[in-house]
Amino acid sequence: MKVLVVASAKGGSGKSLVTANIAARLGKRKGERVAMIDLDSTQGTLTKWWEARGRPSAPYLLEDSRSLVSDLRTLSADGYTWCVIDTPPLDMKVIEFAVMSADFVVMPVILSTPDLDSSKTIVALCSKRRRKYAYLINSFDSRPAFKKVNADGLAMIPRGAVLKTRLPDSPKFREGWNVGKAGADTDKALAAVLDEVIDEIRAEIAPTKGAANG
Ligand SMILES: Nc1ncnc2c1ncn2[C@@H]1O[C@H](COP(=O)(O)OP(=O)(O)OP(=O)(O)O)[C@@H](O)[C@H]1O
Ligand SMILES: [Mg+2]
Repeated sequence: MKVLVVASAKGGSGKSLVTANIAARLGKRKGERVAMIDLDSTQGTLTKWWEARGRPSAPYLLEDSRSLVSDLRTLSADGYTWCVIDTPPLDMKVIEFAVMSADFVVMPVILSTPDLDSSKTIVALCSKRRRKYAYLINSFDSRPAFKKVNADGLAMIPRGAVLKTRLPDSPKFREGWNVGKAGADTDKALAAVLDEVIDEIRAEIAPTKGAANG
């Protein structure tokens, strides 16, 4: 079982949305069984989405995770091929614990200076724990007015540490959240974007040649 941790020190960068959307899309692939764990027990954003979706078995959400290590062992023994973990903002203890279990850490980030500044703490954590990671640019706005902001933001990201695919700022991600919809449920373009994100992550976890993040 592969463990994908979604983390960022900054609140509101899209962690819960990315967790739900990757898990839902990944679960559509043949042979994949996807579980999720919501480590943000204070907000429970991911749990609420899963409940609104009708508590499906795909993607499944393991409720009341108490011991991450043994929970992951159980999920793996139960035949899950992926576990996607949502983490809280700021709580570095919880984030570090999740990172320790990760095959890969994906860090959603909005291209703005404060967000990119605070992301450095997660990069340091991944380096300390020797985990592969990549930034995932979220809410990307390609309009000309954002050209400088985007270029300045991209310049703050270490070379090679960012997924090529970017998530657009899309109302389809927001629209159905409260009723448990994922962006790809209703939008083919978002489905294609998420497929690319998933393919990139898979390639980073099991690279054919070379390794991520040196
Ligand atoms: N690409 C996107 N397009 C549209 N809306 C988005 C996108 N990414 C995030 N949002 C919206 O931004 C808000 C914050 O997203 P989300 O709750 O996933 O962030 P988070 O990092 O989990 O926040 P927290 O740190 O509080 O847990 C939500 O309303 C979400 O729908
Ligand atoms: Mg969240």
